[in-house]
Amino acid sequence: MTFTANRLLLFGATGDLSQRMLLPSLCALDADDLLGADLKIIGTARTEMSDGDFRNFAREALEKYLPRDRRGGMADFLNRLTYQSLDALTEEGYRELADKVGDPSGGLAIFLSTAPSLFEPTIAGLDKVGLASENVRIGLEKPLGTDLASSQEINDAVASAFDESRIYRIDHYLGKETVQNLLALRFANIMLEPVWNSNYVEHVQITVAETVGLESRVAYYDDSGALRDMVQNHMLQLLALVAMEPPTSFDATAIRDEKVKVLRALRSVDAADTVRGQYRAGAIDGKSVPGYDEELGKDSDTETFVAIKAHVDNWRWKGVPFYMRTGKRLPERTTEIVVQFRGIPHSIFEERGAHTKPNQLVIGIQPQENIQLSMMAKMPGLDREGIRLRSVPLDIAMPDAFTGTHRRIAYERLLLDLIEGDQTLFVRRDEIEAQWEWIDAIREQWKGEGAKPKPYSAGSWGPSAAIALTERNGVSWHE
Ligand code: BG6
Repeated sequence: MTFTANRLLLFGATGDLSQRMLLPSLCALDADDLLGADLKIIGTARTEMSDGDFRNFAREALEKYLPRDRRGGMADFLNRLTYQSLDALTEEGYRELADKVGDPSGGLAIFLSTAPSLFEPTIAGLDKVGLASENVRIGLEKPLGTDLASSQEINDAVASAFDESRIYRIDHYLGKETVQNLLALRFANIMLEPVWNSNYVEHVQITVAETVGLESRVAYYDDSGALRDMVQNHMLQLLALVAMEPPTSFDATAIRDEKVKVLRALRSVDAADTVRGQYRAGAIDGKSVPGYDEELGKDSDTETFVAIKAHVDNWRWKGVPFYMRTGKRLPERTTEIVVQFRGIPHSIFEERGAHTKPNQLVIGIQPQENIQLSMMAKMPGLDREGIRLRSVPLDIAMPDAFTGTHRRIAYERLLLDLIEGDQTLFVRRDEIEAQWEWIDAIREQWKGEGAKPKPYSAGSWGPSAAIALTERNGVSWHE
């Protein structure tokens, strides 16, 4: 049902995500007059706080995390906020929460980010006090389970109170402008689609590299590891957007139908086509940083780096490897997709001593937001010694192409869609379950092998085995 919510209930309101992303995103939307005048925002968490305390807490978060030029109207925004503490395991707690929220019939959007073990009691608690009725939709933040079985349990629990059309599973990568731009690049241009297949594409690379280490999320990260933290969600969503067939329309069902077909066509990966790594002490930007074990304070077999050679077994992508890699404490923060095209079938330049290089499309997602297509061009000159060709980039820097627009936090887009009711950029149940199924099969193999993650120095591009993974097919990772 389409409705614009006039109440937003934020679980985990005093948490890290709320401080760094949710409150700043909402304030920025408010500054641009994108929140309805009557929207009330109710924060809830375990901590006892008054409305005034919560407003002070929010003000501090905004001053820390939202650029000054986007804080216009902060005072009005803070006035929208109220707070109710909640013990998520008592019925009384939900009754008090319902009183604070008030009548949800005008439309309530709930943003739920909670420990996986609290999903069931929270949904049941909301349902009991009428906060799961027809006019309520719910956004779910990861981690939505730790494997297929636990993800199904969460999905079943949520489905017992909300139908799928009211469930918004968040993958914040889908809120990134440049990720959405993949759809425009592929489906708003005629040139790419005819060559976007195994006849013309030799391989695809997806890199999500981070310089940060464990940060403060010790317990969560050590239980999760890079495969479940990054590949299961963000990287598989990127892969699905790159590999999907053209949808028939720009709507949630059409787009998600095509993505899930790709996820289901992923071939089970052989352990030999995966690399697990864990960082040791090293240096990032010239500064020494400790190893993972030291940061954690104990030995651990959790991987902080993964590289995988994947295949999408369908007509379009038969035989095209999709190389993925992600890791913490890599030399730079980069998310990019590289589409490597095949060479030309016949070169007229060889006899003149010139070689051609296959075209390559690089889609920079962050921090560089750009699209680069390498093209062969003749170098200027009389060519008396032979023709000289060089690969030069056609380069579109998005910030230059769209000056005067500001970059939005991914959560601005996602929170607005949650409030207004557009599911296009949210993950459907069948997608997330297909993602888990593929990831579980990899973990099973790792378990069977009992292999420890391979060490790599912080500030390097992961274990040497990750280089070998592509090199054995004559491919180098893009740098
Ligand atoms: C989160 C992961 O989902 O994504 C983090 O849990 C990771 O470990 C983060 O750092 C990366 O997001 P972004 O937007 O900074 O690329």
